[in-house]
Amino acid sequence: MSKLCLTITETSLESVYNTIKNNFDNIDLVELRVDFLDISEQCKIDTFKCNKPVILTFRKKIDGGLYCGDESYREKILIQGIKSGNFSYVDLEEDLHSTDIDKAVLSSGIRVIRSFHDFNGVPQNLADRIKNIIRNSNEIPKAAVMINGTNELLTFYKEVEKLGFITKIVLGMGSYGFNTRILAERIGSYLTFCSKEGSSAAPGHVSPQLLNDIYRFRKIERNWKIMGIIGNPVMHTKSPLIHNRGYKELDLNAVYVPFETNNLEQFMEICKLLNIEGFSVTVPFKNDIIPLLDGVTESVKQIGACNTVTRVGDKWIGDNSDYVGFINPLLQAYGSIQDKQISVIGAGGAAKAAVFALKSHGAKVVILNRTLKNAEVLAKDFNTDCAELSIDSIDTLNRFSDIIVQTTNVGMHPLESINPLDFYTFSGNEFVYDIIYSPEKTILLDKAEKAGCRILNGWKMLEEQAYRQFKLFTGLEYPLK
Ligand code: ATR
Repeated sequence: MSKLCLTITETSLESVYNTIKNNFDNIDLVELRVDFLDISEQCKIDTFKCNKPVILTFRKKIDGGLYCGDESYREKILIQGIKSGNFSYVDLEEDLHSTDIDKAVLSSGIRVIRSFHDFNGVPQNLADRIKNIIRNSNEIPKAAVMINGTNELLTFYKEVEKLGFITKIVLGMGSYGFNTRILAERIGSYLTFCSKEGSSAAPGHVSPQLLNDIYRFRKIERNWKIMGIIGNPVMHTKSPLIHNRGYKELDLNAVYVPFETNNLEQFMEICKLLNIEGFSVTVPFKNDIIPLLDGVTESVKQIGACNTVTRVGDKWIGDNSDYVGFINPLLQAYGSIQDKQISVIGAGGAAKAAVFALKSHGAKVVILNRTLKNAEVLAKDFNTDCAELSIDSIDTLNRFSDIIVQTTNVGMHPLESINPLDFYTFSGNEFVYDIIYSPEKTILLDKAEKAGCRILNGWKMLEEQAYRQFKLFTGLEYPLK
């Protein structure tokens, strides 16, 4: 079972002890980063005691640490730690050659983690590098590499697959690599690293509580089913919270993982490699995923957008749960929308599901979009009016103002400071529905509420569409409390 290692980057041993105490039940071992300790504390590391196995690490700046002093001091401190017998492992970089350290390692019986870090990307020959890095069978090879895109994630998984069952520590850094940390057991990584809540010792570190509570990290077994979500950006998504909670509640051997993606074809290859069973699709891939699938349901054909992909046998089938997810909360909050005049902002995949749902319930719809051409295509498909999203569309917006539906990603991180309707003054009579849920209240909703409008954010939509996806992925009803 892959272990969870808390990397500790405190400046004093007292804070190190506190951090261990606060996280004790959630972790298997500790990495003490000596490079973060004050100099006056570094020379006391031979007094350090802990009831969990500890990795001794003294990282140079060039390898992602803080230390930029001379090498003889670093060796002296490492030897002091190794000889103390208080550490189970010592992390030594591949370029570290010191006969004194080798002697200390031999006489103490400590286990060496032989590491390399690549902050530029994934080396094409990652598997060979990992195999060749160790100097004897007592050493565990470790590779921490930055993953800059789906192509590199694919290379990472392919290379790691080549290594089979050898003992190793492998992980991808950054948001594209976050899934490699959760899937440590699946890829046979001896451990993965995390940081205490509120701090991140390396790109992609999250807290042990999050890994255990949401992803059930310390329970995951190699044969667990993998589901996920693709999008860009995707790290903000709350979908893992909802899906994994359902798996936990029903005690299913499955985990739902975020995959930041910038190339869909390559992601589909990753699906094959990891045997992924199904995935949610979010911005901006709800249209582009369709040509890569083997088939789609009637709802995808009618809406022209897909937010759910399930593996049925060896075929990928696209479905759309946004439709129900979108309309149910609106009907609950507003009541009937028959003959209501409604403006839809945006003309992407989410807008398609919204317009389809609104029209099916008898509303009169106008589509307003930054790029008029895209609005025109949608308007033609669904037989509605359309206009460019600009100050020139004020009259249209005033006419179609019973309900205003915002479907773009404008207002969501990293665009949270932008209001797509900054030229419009609310009368207070509009009902404003922004399908963004993070932040909870976009600038648009805030402005609308202050003007006296009733507002609705995308949280209920997220939940409703996720419940339907859950059924498609697992065949089971979502366990509502
Ligand atoms: P999704 O599948 O989630 O709907 P999408 O298909 O990429 O994502 O659609 C994104 C929508 O947000 C589009 O309507 C897009 O407008 P354009 O058609 O002009 O691209 C809209 N959008 C994205 N960024 C925007 C911005 N900065 N201002 C206004 N609209 C924006």
